[in-house]
Amino acid sequence: MASIADWPLPRDIPLPLPADSILLQTLLVVLFLWHILFVNLMVGGSLLTVVFQLIGRQRPDFTVLARAIAGTVTVNKSLAVVLGVGPLLAINVLYTVYFYTANALTGGAWLAIVPLVTLAFLLTYAHKYTWDRLANARGLHIALGMAGAGLFLVIPLIFLTNINLMLFPGRWLQVEGFLSALLLPNVWPRYFHFLTASVAITGLFLLFFFLRSGCPVETKLRDLDRAGLRRLFYGISLGATALQLLFGPWVLFTLPGHGMSWYLIGVISTGVVFALWAMHLMWREITVPLARAMPRAALIFVLITLTAFAMGYGRHVYRESALQEHRALMAAHTQDAGWLASAAAWREATGQQVLRIPMGQRVFESTCAACHAQDRVLVGPSLVEIAGIYRDDPGGIAAWTRQPGRKRTEMPPMPAFRLDNETLQAVAGYMLERVAGPAPTEGG
Ligand code: HEC
Repeated sequence: MASIADWPLPRDIPLPLPADSILLQTLLVVLFLWHILFVNLMVGGSLLTVVFQLIGRQRPDFTVLARAIAGTVTVNKSLAVVLGVGPLLAINVLYTVYFYTANALTGGAWLAIVPLVTLAFLLTYAHKYTWDRLANARGLHIALGMAGAGLFLVIPLIFLTNINLMLFPGRWLQVEGFLSALLLPNVWPRYFHFLTASVAITGLFLLFFFLRSGCPVETKLRDLDRAGLRRLFYGISLGATALQLLFGPWVLFTLPGHGMSWYLIGVISTGVVFALWAMHLMWREITVPLARAMPRAALIFVLITLTAFAMGYGRHVYRESALQEHRALMAAHTQDAGWLASAAAWREATGQQVLRIPMGQRVFESTCAACHAQDRVLVGPSLVEIAGIYRDDPGGIAAWTRQPGRKRTEMPPMPAFRLDNETLQAVAGYMLERVAGPAPTEGG
C-alpha cells in the first residue's frame, strides 16, 4: 500500500464544527443506536414474517403469528427512517469529507437507496393489507413478503458498505463503485453481524409483544401456549446471539489493525460479558420451567441494551482512532490550501508579475514573509538569525519547513509546509542569498 502521505485525501472544509465535538459524537452514538434498534426490528421482523408464513403452511399458528409480526414491521420501519435523520446529520457534520467521498465512490448504489426504500415500503404495505384478499393466492402473498424482506436485506448492505468505505482512504483510488467497495475487508462480517443482531433483538421484542398482558394468545392460537411462545422467541434470540459469538470475532479480526487499541478491546469485551450473561439467562428461561413468565425478561433486555451500547460505542472508538492519521493529513492539506489561497490573494493585491519573480522569492513573499522579516522578529525569527543557523545548509531549512521542530518557546510553533523539494530548495536559497547578498528593499 502506498504510504499515507500519498493517499488521495481531499482537503477539509475550513469551518469550525457547529457544536462541541464531544456533544456531536455523543449524539451520533446515541441517535445511531436508536435508529439501528428499529432497523433491526424492521429487518428481523420482515424476515421472521416470511419464515413464519412458510412454516404456517404446516402449522397454522405460525400464520397467525406472521400476520401479527407483519403489523409491527411497518411501524418499526417508520420509526427507523425518522430516527435515521439524526445520525445521518451528525455523521455529515463530523465526517464530512469521508462521508461524501464514500457516497461519491458508491454513487449509483447510494442514490438507489431512495427508490429501493420506496419500493420496499410499498411491498411491505401491499403484503400487510392483502392478507385476506390473497387468501387464495398464498404463494403470491408470500412472494410479496419475500420481495419486501429481500429489499430490506439489500438496503442496509449499501449503507454499511458506504460507512465501511469511509475507513479506508488508502483504497479510495482502487474502488470503482459499490460492487468493488463490497470487496473491502470487514464488509461481510459486519453485515452478518448486523443480520444476526437483527434477529436476536427481534426475538426479544416479539417475546414482549406476544406475552404482554392483553395479547389474545389463548383465543388466537391452537397449539402454542404462552410457555411455548416463550421458548420459541427466547430460542430464536439465543440462537442468533450465539451466532454473534462467531461473527463478532470475525468482524474484529478483519478490521485494519491501525485503529485497534486496548481501550477498544476493553469496551468490546465488556459488551461480550453482557451478552454472555444475557445468553445464560435466556438459556435458563428456555430450559427451566417457571411458574411466572418474564421474571428475567427485563434484566435480559437491559443486558442486551448494554451490549448494544458497548458495541455501538466501540464502533465509534474504532472509527475515531482509525481516521486519526488521515485527519492530521487532511488538516495539513487544508492548511496548505489556505496558504496557497493567501498567496494568490497577495499576488493579486500587489499586482506582481508572478512569472518574472524567481520562484524562491515568490514563495517566500507569499508563504513565509507573513512571519519572517529581514532583521526583526515578526512571528518567527528574522532571516538574519535563520541565515546564522543555516549558512551553508539550505537543505536544513527545507527539512525544517517540511517538518518544523520546536525551539523558541516564546514563539508559537511554526506550521509545516508540504511544499515539494524543488520549491523548498528555492525558498531556502532565496532566504540565505537575501541575507548574504546586497540587502534588497524590504517588501510586503
Ligand atoms: C505562521 C508563521 C510562520 C510562517 C508562515 C513561517 N514560519 Fe518559519 N517560523 C515560525 C516560527 C514561530 C518559528 C520559530 C519556531 C521555534 O523556534 O519553535 C519559525 C522558525 C523558522 C526557521 C528556523 C528554524 C531553526 O532551526 O531555528 C526556519 C528556517 C523557518 N522558520 C523557515 C520558514 C519558511 C521557509 C517558511 C515559508 C515556507 C516559513 N518559515 C513560514 C513561524 C512561521
